[in-house]
Amino acid sequence: MGEKILDPFAGSGSIMVGAAQLDRESVGIDVSPLAAFITKVKVTPLDDLQVGAIRKFIEQPNTLLVSDPWPAPALKIAHKMFEPDILETLLRIRRAIEAWTEDQDVHDFLLLAWISILESVGSYFKEGNGIKYRNKKREAVGYSVRIDGVWQLERFGEDQKAFTLQSFTRHLGHMLKDAESVWVGQPAWKRQVIHTGSATEIMPGLPDQAFDSVIFSPPYANRFDYFEATKVEMWFGGFVKSYADLNTLRKQSMRSHLGSALGDTDYVNDDLESLISLMDQDSYAAKSRVPSLLRGYFEDMKSVLTQCRRVTKAGSRTYVVVGNSAYAGVIMPTDSLCAQVALASGFKNAKLHVVRHLTVAPQQRDQLRGYESFMRESVVELW
Ligand SMILES: C[S@@+](CC[C@H](N)C(=O)[O-])C[C@H]1O[C@@H](n2cnc3c(N)ncnc32)[C@H](O)[C@@H]1O
Repeated sequence: MGEKILDPFAGSGSIMVGAAQLDRESVGIDVSPLAAFITKVKVTPLDDLQVGAIRKFIEQPNTLLVSDPWPAPALKIAHKMFEPDILETLLRIRRAIEAWTEDQDVHDFLLLAWISILESVGSYFKEGNGIKYRNKKREAVGYSVRIDGVWQLERFGEDQKAFTLQSFTRHLGHMLKDAESVWVGQPAWKRQVIHTGSATEIMPGLPDQAFDSVIFSPPYANRFDYFEATKVEMWFGGFVKSYADLNTLRKQSMRSHLGSALGDTDYVNDDLESLISLMDQDSYAAKSRVPSLLRGYFEDMKSVLTQCRRVTKAGSRTYVVVGNSAYAGVIMPTDSLCAQVALASGFKNAKLHVVRHLTVAPQQRDQLRGYESFMRESVVELW
């Protein structure tokens, strides 16, 4: 693994925290300012004074509710996302956080705790490729509507303000406990650096042969849009202020979903084209922009892997954790294609380590019978 590690798709920072714990240095990149913020908080150990300031904040919970509410974001559905009392309480706590300290690291730790409880106190939850409202309940076939007033009582109890406040203080307490156990040995942690932006734009600015290894898990080519799934946290956390901001981020992200900047590409990969031609041509996937998503995805992968080769020292390794996906009766073996793209981008060797099998969606089961084992997650080792 070596001393200095790069994760160009850092997400919420598992690789970087691991690097810090092993007394290594790491550099991370993520296009999502929310992900970069989460990672930054996790890799920034606080000293005793800062931890003390956070403890003090939790110890006087009722004072948190006297501040005027912080303004709700311009997200059109902001008021549908929370019960009125919950939203008001959240925004009062937010105001208290903003007024509490001038210490940026303490502020960010508190803000992360606040962002982290949004879903659990919200009237929505993340599911599939986006979010769903809690007033609908998933049944064996479709969804049923839950009775208004009843589901809220079941989930939030009678006092929604107290529920919200307790959720926040409890979560903050857990975060502190977690952080203190992870930060053992700090402040000996070496500095970990996180950049906000697209890997394809930031990596070319990194020096040649600066890293001992690259480890990353890119978005999978499965149409999942991180910005859709995290839009409440993005807006409420203040990471976007307008729909235009959100759209710009979507367009900068890897071409793994239909909201990214899918356009014409010059990228030609014969194996990928044969797979695309095997797709059921009458299917929605074949007629939609999925073929152009796939071409864009592997073109992005090629530019990232070319950079991985350049920024690593001779003899070092790159590890890509990636999952395959299925469209219109065809499994896209992203792991093998990624290895193939790497070999065409300067790597001499590639080895696939299958780590997990993925389930085939019920509607694709008949078409994919016999090929299920290709629905898998792998670590692609490159050198
Ligand atoms: C599979 S997740 C990474 C998970 C990560 N290993 C962790 O521990 O949380 C993929 C990440 O890639 C990010 N991403 C998408 N497009 C990107 C791009 N062009 N450049 C950098 N990051 C990008 C997403 O925001 C997401 O956080």
